[in-house]
Amino acid sequence: MNSVEKNESKSEGCLQKCLVSRRQFLFSGLATATVALAGVPGFGFGISMAEAAVLSKYPRKKIGSLRALKTDVPVRFAYPTKDIENMLVKLGAQAGGGVGPSKDVVAFNPVCTHMGGPLGEKYNAQYKILGQCPFHQSTFDLTRHGMIVSGHGTESLPQVLLETEGDDIYATGFIGLVYGRKSNV
Ligand code: FES
Repeated sequence: MNSVEKNESKSEGCLQKCLVSRRQFLFSGLATATVALAGVPGFGFGISMAEAAVLSKYPRKKIGSLRALKTDVPVRFAYPTKDIENMLVKLGAQAGGGVGPSKDVVAFNPVCTHMGGPLGEKYNAQYKILGQCPFHQSTFDLTRHGMIVSGHGTESLPQVLLETEGDDIYATGFIGLVYGRKSNV
């Protein structure tokens, strides 16, 4: 092997080592990040926010009646615990997860998923959105499962799952976690 070949072989060896150590670094970084996230709200012990929400046990609770609702007039209710206040609204337009004859009755937790801004008074009847958030202007589409429309938020609003029995409306669960919580129950 001449000196040029020796140098090439040396560089290949170095490249292999560099690649391995870079890969090892990335994996160790991922592991560290996973452990670190375990203590962050919504990332409890390796369970994703969606999984945590699905794994929770929710009560079935009557929260209102179809006849009592007026289009575009939100009403509040506590669910699943007394300290979680949500918003029930008849949108007058069919919505994802909507119940009632027109599939237009939906419920959400009105706390901004970005940094907890209060959205309870921010229902926009014209566009069927919640927002703008007073903190960083996020808006959420109530006809599309609370999907983010604009602003700094990255997650949909937590939607309360609804069922009807005759005229009665029941809450039966949640899609998503209420801001700042590891569990909704
Ligand atoms: S807290 Fe609502 S957009 Fe930041």
